[in-house]
Amino acid sequence: METVIYRLPDPREDTWLEHAAETLQRGGLVAFPTETVYGLGAAMSHPPAIRQVFTVKVRPNDNPLILHIYELGQLAEIAREIPPVAYRLAERFWPGPLTLVLPARPEVPAEVTAGLPTVAVRMPSHPVALALLRKTGIPVAAPSANLSGRPSPTTGDAVVEDLFGAIDVIIDAGPTGVGLESTVLDLTGDRPRVLRPGGVTPEMLAEVFGPGIVEAPWRVEAQRPAAPGMKYRHYAPKAPMKVFAGPVEKVREAINGCLRMDLPQGKKVAVLGFEDSRDRYPGAIFKSLGEREHPEAAAHRLFMLLRTCDREHVDQIYGELPTTQGVGLAVVNRLWKAAGGDLIEL
Ligand code: TXA
Ligand code: MG
Repeated sequence: METVIYRLPDPREDTWLEHAAETLQRGGLVAFPTETVYGLGAAMSHPPAIRQVFTVKVRPNDNPLILHIYELGQLAEIAREIPPVAYRLAERFWPGPLTLVLPARPEVPAEVTAGLPTVAVRMPSHPVALALLRKTGIPVAAPSANLSGRPSPTTGDAVVEDLFGAIDVIIDAGPTGVGLESTVLDLTGDRPRVLRPGGVTPEMLAEVFGPGIVEAPWRVEAQRPAAPGMKYRHYAPKAPMKVFAGPVEKVREAINGCLRMDLPQGKKVAVLGFEDSRDRYPGAIFKSLGEREHPEAAAHRLFMLLRTCDREHVDQIYGELPTTQGVGLAVVNRLWKAAGGDLIEL
């Protein structure tokens, strides 16, 4: 398939918008930026296009998709029994990185929900995403625009790397802001529950629900391993990865202990660490997660750094974990998953 790439700002200006919207309307696939990660879109009205999304990503078909909307009026086309708190959340956090899981209307195709009675929906804040959704006029199902299992794409180049030649259009508008996928909040149970931590933090949700109401563990596995006992890796780099939590000095000591085993064997080792650890891992390739106190930087960079490790063919990756404050919770969750659960608490 011939993939058309638009790099914005594009000299062809609004032709990208016309072309991309028309592609979605006729059942084609378009990769577009959101404020979290790049999405791979198909219109809700075209179930075969949605099936194609699963095919090109090699995504297990029991994993449901998020519908993307540009105005609140579209919510009632998708969801039913919408509780008042959903509107309060929408008012506070939309457009933005919050996905709500609500009871689905029967019109939502099973291709989107994977046959569940519920549907996930969000309104992204990236101006390119909003313009595209408005022009298309139909809710757009969009998972992250990566091959299943790989780190989600936070740059246009990462989308090109995974999907060039397999989809119709790629809109490259540079690096995304948040860098991690949206917070998925399930509103269909007895208590609101975070199924995937993200840019909207538990602290921010507590501003709406009050303290102690929302369940938000970081050890959440939205997708189950295919077979019991199978190690499930998601967002995963090619090299094996191990991550460490605990007091900074102990973490550095533990990682250096590992380096003393790996380096004499000639292994190429990368350490993902915070800026204050920059000179603490002699012999390793240091990849900075930014300032320890500001996990937003780690969120923004993490997936890009994991893809860089692949490109540089490193043999082993070690990672320092931030605290679970704020967006740190989402960073810990993604590092834990990238490491296939290989998390050592010191
Ligand atoms: O930031 C994001 O959310 C990005 C951008 C493109 O919007 N999208 C994204 O999609 O990350 P995806 O498909 O990679 O992740 C969707 C997540 C999965 O964990 C899926 O299990 C969950 O949402 N999900 C979707 N529908 C659901 C439902 N009805 N109930 C529970 N979880 C659901
Ligand atoms: Mg994904």
